[in-house]
Amino acid sequence: MAEKLVSDLLAYLVAAASNAGLYGPEHPAVKAYSLRAHAVLAELLKDSQELSLTAVGPSLLVGDTPLREHGAHVVSFLKKLRQRGLERVVFRQGVQPQEVEAFAVGLSGTKGAVPTGGHIAVGALQVRTRAPEGQVQGLLKQGQAMVAQVYHGLSRLKRLDAAGLEDAVLGFISALQREANVLRLLSPVKSHSEYTYVHITNVAVLSLFQAQALGLQGEALHEVGLAGLLHDVGKLFIPREVIEKEGKLQEAEWAAMQLHPLYGALFLSQQPDVPRVAAIVAFEHHMRYDGQGYPRTKLRSHRQHLVSQMVALADFFDALRSVRSYRGALDVPTIAGFIQEGAGSMFNPLLVKSFLQALKKAGVL
Ligand SMILES: [Fe+2]
Ligand SMILES: [Fe+2]
Repeated sequence: MAEKLVSDLLAYLVAAASNAGLYGPEHPAVKAYSLRAHAVLAELLKDSQELSLTAVGPSLLVGDTPLREHGAHVVSFLKKLRQRGLERVVFRQGVQPQEVEAFAVGLSGTKGAVPTGGHIAVGALQVRTRAPEGQVQGLLKQGQAMVAQVYHGLSRLKRLDAAGLEDAVLGFISALQREANVLRLLSPVKSHSEYTYVHITNVAVLSLFQAQALGLQGEALHEVGLAGLLHDVGKLFIPREVIEKEGKLQEAEWAAMQLHPLYGALFLSQQPDVPRVAAIVAFEHHMRYDGQGYPRTKLRSHRQHLVSQMVALADFFDALRSVRSYRGALDVPTIAGFIQEGAGSMFNPLLVKSFLQALKKAGVL
């Protein structure tokens, strides 16, 4: 496989699509980059009938070989495919420059769906309304494993593997599409050390559940999932003894713990591949609708971001749902009662209403 050529092809396609997104599909840069992409394609298709690119998890398969290169353009290409709901593209010999341009413009999302047919065929992600239990659990497990992997390799100095998390989010979104009962998608915590991964996964699923109920789709929905997965990332920078302490925290320990939103926001704002909203949510998820909570800000007019409000609600729900050392798990009607009580003070009342309604509709409440 001509690895370098494929890498160039992706770079030009992404450049064409980004320019179409930024300046419109008529911008000359779109044509220019599409022409370059076409030239590379012609080279690649010199001796073969077709070139297929398939998104599988965080990797891109070229034919059936994973592309080793993981540069920003590869990540961006995968992301654009997902945003358009695609998982596979096949370029066939004889492909025309106009077809490449139309594909790039389609990828930018500025002109409806990505065209298919002729010498470029695209395959959509398979979304089914109902799947066997095992499959949904498999998606969840896979997502959770990816989250754990990303978190394990993470430190203050390292770049976050956002692509791994994005794939996990994608898995959660399709699990939600297949399983209406959101409770079945939440995992129980088996051990103390597991708590972090299981908790953030549950918060991501519950936030996505709310976001879907509000009608969010595509990129916006995706960002909610990522923000859910990253809301507590600041805990990585708090001493382990404090995080893992099972009893009540001492005053100094509590003060340290309360810094995790700030650490999380600082860390995420330095990560090039992480959407801004994730940093905002990390900062704001312990704030309340009425302006209480922490961190305290001097800005009285500070309003919690809508996504932070969703994540705060999800965080609360999951905390009460899991068994902790000092109490057992609460049942859903009891938690719903607490949430209802917090409408207008802790939580945005409109979100409370929509969340409880969605739980009812899902047959959970
Ligand atoms: Fe937190
Ligand atoms: Fe949390």
